[in-house]
Amino acid sequence: MKPIHMAGPWITDHEIKIVEDAMRNGWYENSYNYVEKFQHEFAVYHDRKYGIMTPNCTTAIHLLLTALGISEGDEVILPECTWIATGAGITYLKATPIFCDIDPENWCLNPNSVEKLITPKTKAIIAVDLFGNMPNYDQLSRLCAHHQIPLIEDSAEAVGSTYKGVKAGKFGVGSVFSFHRTKTITTGEGGMLLLDDEKLYDRCMFLRDHGRKKDAMYLNYEVTYKYMPFNVQAALGYAQFQRIDALVGLKRNQLKMYRERLSEIKDISLNPEPEGGINGAWITSIVFGKSYNLKKLDIIKKLAEIDIPARPFFYPLSSLPAYPRARVKYEPINPVAYDISSRGINLPGSAILTEDQMDWICNGIKKLINTCNLKLGKNHID
Ligand SMILES: Cc1ncc(COP(=O)(O)O)c(C=O)c1O
Repeated sequence: MKPIHMAGPWITDHEIKIVEDAMRNGWYENSYNYVEKFQHEFAVYHDRKYGIMTPNCTTAIHLLLTALGISEGDEVILPECTWIATGAGITYLKATPIFCDIDPENWCLNPNSVEKLITPKTKAIIAVDLFGNMPNYDQLSRLCAHHQIPLIEDSAEAVGSTYKGVKAGKFGVGSVFSFHRTKTITTGEGGMLLLDDEKLYDRCMFLRDHGRKKDAMYLNYEVTYKYMPFNVQAALGYAQFQRIDALVGLKRNQLKMYRERLSEIKDISLNPEPEGGINGAWITSIVFGKSYNLKKLDIIKKLAEIDIPARPFFYPLSSLPAYPRARVKYEPINPVAYDISSRGINLPGSAILTEDQMDWICNGIKKLINTCNLKLGKNHID
């Protein structure tokens, strides 16, 4: 069998044609033609007024936090379990990340935990649509409105997801997407910031290009960033975006196929899809129940022995060496994040994953569970 990849894109002749056009014609007066088309159409699709493409999603978050005026002494709440990029911009701005617990149902931030962490210093809350799952946006939006704290939606992993009929990317004052090479829509590296507020949009556009105003040539008013996208990168994103239904469909089908093949296994949870919502299923994740008494790294090691790659569920951010001493403070107040993260793994989800490979992966998981059953004297398979 060919090697199984964790992640990877689905590029067709359509993308190649459009990228070729950008290469041949996207210069001079067309230097940003695909950037503009992609930004505009991506925003419209998500029912947002403005789209701003960035070199990646990390920079999109940094841009928005800067535009919101986050600075030294401020606190920004974000969930424990996410990729470090969600919170990196907070540290760039010398503000303090405050880690909240996650919801055991959807593995996203828990609004009850957020509420307990709000102080007069809280200047923003970042929700993450983890692996395509959606948090309780009703409760979270009410909470943010009540405290007048801007909500940011990190929808980097959630293209194609919806919450009660509303697309991921429409929550809060702004949302961000990633087009990293591992994402459902890819530009290799790339990101997008979506906004509805004109002033915020103008500020972000100003910050994105060395603090100059529109049509102001070489007149810089502040020292800001250079977070401009490249037209060829945007052309690839635009072409992929035109195939969004197929790309999200592929991911959703992978989740469905994993669910079917693993359906007889007891006490495991895969990405939830609550009624009235759609899970874009960027990656399929499994959380093993406590009855297995298994830790994620042991599971990953055992699967690797039979050529199945897997990745750990995100570590709680406060447990990372990048945030020294944070664990002591947060582990006791965020026990769900610490517990779920210790038992979760992500399964392969590349676009070239075959059905045979998926069978191999699921049979491998069953083998692992059988070994575990023998050891524990339990039966986890119907
Ligand atoms: C939840 C989340 N936020 C932010 C990012 C950052 O995206 P990028 O790699 O495009 O900067 C990622 C990327 O993996 C992510 O998964």
